[in-house]
Order: sequence, then structure tokens, then C-alpha cells
Amino acid sequence: MKPTWASLLLVLTIMVVFSYQNFSTMSRLPTWVGSIWPTAVSETRLDAPARSCAGFFGDVPKRKVVMSIEAFGGVGDGTTSNTEAFRRAILHMQAFGNTGGSQLNVPKGRWLTGSFNLTSNFTLFLEHGAVILGSQVN
Ligand SMILES: *[C@@H]1O[C@H](CO)[C@@H](O)[C@H](O)[C@H]1NC(C)=O
Ligand SMILES: *[C@@H]1O[C@H](CO)[C@@H](O)[C@H](O)[C@H]1NC(C)=O
Ligand SMILES: *[C@@H]1O[C@H](CO)[C@@H](O)[C@H](O)[C@H]1NC(C)=O
Repeated sequence: MKPTWASLLLVLTIMVVFSYQNFSTMSRLPTWVGSIWPTAVSETRLDAPARSCAGFFGDVPKRKVVMSIEAFGGVGDGTTSNTEAFRRAILHMQAFGNTGGSQLNVPKGRWLTGSFNLTSNFTLFLEHGAVILGSQVN
């Protein structure tokens, strides 16, 4: 079917609505949020945490150990498989389940991965612009 002007207009309207939603999510965030963000005791020193992929800044549980998937060899280029990196990370971080929990940060990028299991008292934190690409193969 050939796209009509009406359907193009509809797509455009949807895009405008979505970008407005993105914009309003961002503008709702007070600027002081970054400065009061709790400093995590981390194994790997991380910079001030980024906004989550959903612009969510609410009640992210405070975890004792915060690490980046990059510390486990992850590469967010959209083509490298990160299955082993995620599995290694969670294997490492599940040890903190009973001692303050852990958070794995996934920076901005496209992270291809097969399946991996989560663990207890664990936060998988997708920073703003991070996309997980699920793959059926490892
Ligand atoms: C909304 O934000 C997401 C995440 O940053 C982005 O991937 C998406 O393209 C944005 N949508 C629009 C319409 O800008
Ligand atoms: C998760 O943490 C809570 C304390 O915040 C603790 O009571 C609980 O046992 C932990 N769960 C596991 C499975 O370690
Ligand atoms: C995830 O958990 C399921 C069920 O316990 C198990 O069969 C599977 O092997 C686990 N996968 C990994 C990568 O640990």
C-alpha cells in the first residue's frame, strides 16, 4: 500500500507527541536532582550517575556496590555480544545480595545480549540512551 498524506501526517503527529513527552519528562526533572544523588560506595569509581533511560529519578533503591557493565568487558556498539559480560557481572554481583545489594549501570549505547538471569537486591540501571537489544542466540 502506498503511504498517503493522511498516514504520513498521523506518523508525524505521533512523533511530535512522543518528542513532546520526552521533552516534558526532561523538563520536569529539577536541576538540583544531580547534586543530591547519593554517592555510592563502589568498587569501580563511577561519575555522578546519569539519568535512567526513562528519565526516571524516583525511588531507585540505594545499593552498596555500583558497577558498570563496561567493567565486565561490555561493549555497547550494537553488534558485540554482551551475553558473557552480563552473566559475569551478575555472577559477581549476586554475592552482594545479602550485604547491601548491587547496581549494574548500563551506559548510553546499544547493548546486544542473549538471556541472562537477574539476582536478588539488584538494580539493572539503564542510563539515558541505553538500549538493550535482546538476541535469541548468545
Ligand atoms: C524519546 O526518548 C527515547 C530515549 O532517549 C528515544 O529513543 C526516542 O527516540 C525519543 N522519542 C522521540 C520521538 O524523540
Ligand atoms: C535483600 O536485602 C534485604 C535487606 O535489605 C535482606 O533482608 C534480604 O535477605 C536480602 N535478600 C537476599 C536474597 O539476600
Ligand atoms: C537462569 O535460571 C534458569 C532457572 O533457574 C536456569 O535454567 C538457567 O541456566 C539460568 N541461566 C543462566 C545464564 O544462569
